[in-house]
Amino acid sequence: MAELIVALDVSSTAEVVRAVDRLGDTVSFYKIGLELFSAEGPDVVRAVKGRGKKVFLDLKLHDIPRTVERAVKAGAALGVDLMTLHAAGGKAMVFAAKDAALACGAGAPKLLAVTMLTSLDASDLADLGVTRNMTAQVEALGRLACMNGADGIVCSPKEVARMRTVLGPGALLVTPGVRPAGAAVGDQKRVATPAQAVWDGSTHLVVGRPILEAADPCAAARAIAEEMTLASAVTP
Ligand code: C5P
Repeated sequence: MAELIVALDVSSTAEVVRAVDRLGDTVSFYKIGLELFSAEGPDVVRAVKGRGKKVFLDLKLHDIPRTVERAVKAGAALGVDLMTLHAAGGKAMVFAAKDAALACGAGAPKLLAVTMLTSLDASDLADLGVTRNMTAQVEALGRLACMNGADGIVCSPKEVARMRTVLGPGALLVTPGVRPAGAAVGDQKRVATPAQAVWDGSTHLVVGRPILEAADPCAAARAIAEEMTLASAVTP
C-alpha cells in the first residue's frame, strides 16, 4: 500500500506544529526539506517525531563517504525514517551511507537516491560532460545507487513506470509532482493524479500545496489517501 507524505514547505517549527496538529490522524508521514532544516535544525525533526509521525528528511546528501556516513547516523539518531542522497556521489558514498544505516539496526532510515534534479535539462547534461541522454542517465544513476545499497529513488510521476521496470519490485519509488484531478498544477510541469502514480508503481507520494494550501487540509489529505487506497485495490 503506497503511503502519503506531506511536504512541510513552511519556514518555521511553529508553522510545522500547526500543520501537523491540524492534520492529526489523517497524515502520518511528513517531508522536511533543506530550507526548513537549515532554518530550524534538528528540533523541527524532533517536533514531528514527538507527535508520533514518520519523517522523510530530504537533504540530498552529497559529500565524501565518511561525511555522508556520519550524517546518516545523525539522521538515524533523530529517528528519521527516509533520507535522500545524490546517486552522483558515487558507489562508495552510497555504500558508506547504507553501512551507516545498517549499523543503526531495525529503525534505521531507508535511503533514497536522487538521480538527476528535475531542474536540469539536456544542455545542463552537456555542460556536465555527460554524453548519455537524460533517460539513460536517470536509469544508470538509479541502478548504480540501488546496486550499492540505496532502498530506492525519488522520481517524477512520468518516470515511475519505467523505473519500476528498471529497478524491480522491491525498490522504493517516491514521487512528488502529484496533483488530484482538477487541482492547481502551479509550477509542477510533469504531474500525475494519485491513482495514476500508484498504478505506475509509486510506493510513496509527496504532496505539499494541494494539502497545506487547501481550505480544508484534512479533507484534501483524506481525499488523496482514499484515492490511493482505491487505486491499490483495482487495476486501471
Ligand atoms: O507543493 P508540491 O506538492 O508541489 O510539493 C512537492 C514537494 O516535492 C516539494 O517539497 C518539492 O520541493 C519536492 N520536489 C518536487 N520535485 C522534485 C523533487 C522534489 O516537487 N523533482
